[in-house]
Formats: sequence, structure tokens, C-alpha cells
Amino acid sequence: MITIISSTNRPGSTTLKVAKYYQKRLREKGVEAGLLSLIDLPPYLMVTALLKGRNEAFEPIQQIITQTDKFIFIIPEYNGSYPGVLKVMIDACAFPESFYEKKAALVGVSAGKYGNIRGIDHFTGVCHYLNLHVLPLKLHIANTKQEVDADGNLFKEDTLKFTDEQMDKFILL
Ligand SMILES: Cc1cc2nc3c(=O)[nH]c(=O)nc-3n(C[C@H](O)[C@H](O)[C@H](O)COP(=O)(O)O)c2cc1C
Repeated sequence: MITIISSTNRPGSTTLKVAKYYQKRLREKGVEAGLLSLIDLPPYLMVTALLKGRNEAFEPIQQIITQTDKFIFIIPEYNGSYPGVLKVMIDACAFPESFYEKKAALVGVSAGKYGNIRGIDHFTGVCHYLNLHVLPLKLHIANTKQEVDADGNLFKEDTLKFTDEQMDKFILL
């Protein structure tokens, strides 16, 4: 199973728009992918994530993670890195089986001009620690205000070329 993770809980995020675009484009390529938005994490997860016996409200999310063997993380740049809520989610997951020997593609998203290069590097380090194999082609979508149209679609020629190439490689991963 493939799951696209929209890696922020910010309402109205561009990240969720990009995640939905990836889901739509993969469907056009004949590949079904689920979508998990971190806006759907249970409230108080930061308080309960590390409780022994685990937080029941997190179980549906854990089930999705357990059943997924290939992830696409769409990750916004927040203060020069990936959002803390993404790390909270990872830390709440059962270790090591949730991500061990699974596969991932990473996409950075930023309002500024660097497309979350640092955050994607930081998160790549976490993936390596988890034995989560990262597709070498990592994308950085910068200047998001100029990248997503009113219907939530990416439309720039070079962005379409590279996102398509990444998805094609991810399907074969
Ligand atoms: C808490 C926070 C921190 C941010 N820090 C950065 C940053 O360091 N660099 C940058 O280019 N954009 C930064 N942004 C802007 C986001 O990258 C921008 O909103 C982008 O569209 C992706 O975030 P979104 O999915 O929340 O919309 C930040 C936004 C928030 C909410």
C-alpha cells in the first residue's frame, strides 16, 4: 500500500494541496495511493504519544502506517527544517517495525526560494536511522505561491517534468 503524508497540521496548507496533486497524478498513472494529513492526528498527541500502552486514538494512524510499504512525504519548510508535528507522529509510531526496510520519496515545499532543502536533509537522516529507504530523487518545490494554481494543480513545465519523473521512479522503487 502507498500512503502520501501531508506533513503539517496547519489548516489551509499548501502542503495538503501538493499531496492531493500527487494522489491525483498517481491515479492518472494507474496507481492508487492513500492520503494521510497530519491535521487528522488526534488532539493531545504531543502529550500522549510516548505513553506506555499507547494512545488508543492513535491506533487508526498506526494501522495506516503499518499497512503502508511505500510512503511519499510532502514536507513544508518551517523555520529552516521539517515541522515538529512530523517528528511527533514518527515518535508515536511503533519502533522499529513501522518504517523498517520500507521505501519513501521526499518532496520539500516552501514559500521561500530553497524548497526546504535543509528540512529534507534533516528528515533523510531520520529515515536512514529508521532503515526507511529514500528514493535518491528528492524534490524541492520553492516559491509555492507561484507553483499551485486555483484548482490546486502544479502547472509549471519544469515542476511537472520533475514531479512526473519522481513519481515514475517511485512506482518502480
Ligand atoms: C511555522 C512556519 C514556519 C515557516 N518557516 C519557513 C521557512 O523557514 N522558510 C520558508 O521558505 N518558508 C517558511 N514558511 C512558509 C511555508 O514554507 C509556506 O507556507 C509553504 O507554503 C508551505 O507551508 P504550508 O504547507 O503550511 O502552506 C513557514 C510557515 C510556517 C507556518
